[in-house]
Amino acid sequence: MARRPMVAGNWKMYKTAGEGAILVQNLEEHVRDLWEDVEVVVCPPFTALKSVSTVIELDRLQIGLGAQDMHWEPEGAYTGAIAARMLVDLRCDYVIVGHSERREYFGETDATVNKKVHAVFEAGMVPIVCVGESLAVREADETEAFVRSQVRAALEGLTAEQGARVVIAYEPVWAIGTGRTPTPEGANDVARSIRATVGAMFGQPAAMQVRVLYGGSVKPENASTFFVEPDIDGALVGGAALKADSFAEIAEAAR
Ligand code: PGA
Repeated sequence: MARRPMVAGNWKMYKTAGEGAILVQNLEEHVRDLWEDVEVVVCPPFTALKSVSTVIELDRLQIGLGAQDMHWEPEGAYTGAIAARMLVDLRCDYVIVGHSERREYFGETDATVNKKVHAVFEAGMVPIVCVGESLAVREADETEAFVRSQVRAALEGLTAEQGARVVIAYEPVWAIGTGRTPTPEGANDVARSIRATVGAMFGQPAAMQVRVLYGGSVKPENASTFFVEPDIDGALVGGAALKADSFAEIAEAAR
């Protein structure tokens, strides 16, 4: 069964509400004809979700909306945190969970990632779960074992149907924002191993259905080298997602 490619832009801590609205408008001009073949998603910071969501709605843009994080509790006394229903209210379809920057700078653990993954599904959205090894893990030749264990922890307790619908982004930590990347074949080996882990947890149909993205220094120049790999279904893009033309070129490459 053919999986629909996804190209998701992680804007990180860039773009005000106004800048985000302009970026997504510019993006639409480039990706208008892609939607049938490629799912294009933008993940602005919380403060730009409303303006971007409004542009998507009013202009009927064929662009999906995601948040970059959320809390696992439905509501409560958690100063500074954002709950799932607040994101649903802004028409978010996706939530990035467990990005390596959240793990490194904000104390995200496999356990909190798992709680968030459940909460995202319970709210009717789909998590984009990030996994990936540090340079030390890679140099110790433990990449696949490490990533498999992150996947198992993140997806523990999901139903087979959820296991099939989740999106997993394989992002080697050392490749994020550095201009360095694994070889496409090397990235595909890890993507295949992620798919096999999903298969072991939820059965072969889920393994065939689950979308595995590559992330880490994806640019217009190298995107297609990853997309031709059989187990890579798209990309999670950081820096190159902040400009409409470069992000659109990557989306075009996924077609
Ligand atoms: P990058 O970031 O494309 O800037 O390397 C990717 C990510 O962090 O998702």
